[in-house]
Amino acid sequence: MGILMDHKKTIIAGFVLLAIILGVAVGKGGALPDHYDFARYFHVLAGIVWIGLLYYFNFVQVPSLGGVTPETKADIFKEGSIVRRALFWFRMGAHATLLFGIILFASLGKAITVDIMIGASFAIIMWFNVTFIIWPNQQKVIGIVEADADTKAAAGKKALMASRINTLLSIPMLFLMFSSTHFSIFG
Ligand code: HEM
Repeated sequence: MGILMDHKKTIIAGFVLLAIILGVAVGKGGALPDHYDFARYFHVLAGIVWIGLLYYFNFVQVPSLGGVTPETKADIFKEGSIVRRALFWFRMGAHATLLFGIILFASLGKAITVDIMIGASFAIIMWFNVTFIIWPNQQKVIGIVEADADTKAAAGKKALMASRINTLLSIPMLFLMFSSTHFSIFG
């Protein structure tokens, strides 16, 4: 199947399937989702990309790179590598999640709950960590920004600590994101 051989075509096929399902639902008298419904959908989709890659880094990549030699690392970190691609989609996922999250937040008006205040605050701290700590330090680690061995080691440690803080925060953050919509734990 040609579609399944190309990940871009696979993703397009997923959206086409969604469009068909929505078309059938509307044809049967259902309401077309409004722009906030779509913002919520793209918010969660982007959140999966972001947090999925955060967990990949923490549970798969970091534990696997422990004993790897500097030469192998240079190869793994070069232009077009798995690490560079993963970091690209990680950052794009974070930015898109924040963008759609802000749109949703603005739509809430007086319906802002304590749950979403805490959940969104955690998520914004996480976005801040990605943009201002993880990425600048990762650029040194993977060689986009020139750095000597000591600076690289220190940068790697800073990026790892911020990444671990994000992993920790992601657990209550996700619960508060959906509790805010479905059942507020603060009543
Ligand atoms: C980056 C900052 C973020 C902000 C400002 C933000 C903001 C929001 C807001 C305002 C809502 C409430 C939507 C509504 O009541 O209609 C929401 C819901 C939600 N968010 Fe976030 N969010 C952020 C990050 C994340 C992340 C990283 C995830 C991880 C997947 C996430 C997952 C969700 C989920 C699952 C919902 C519930 C959707 C539902 O059940 O309808 N959010 N977010």
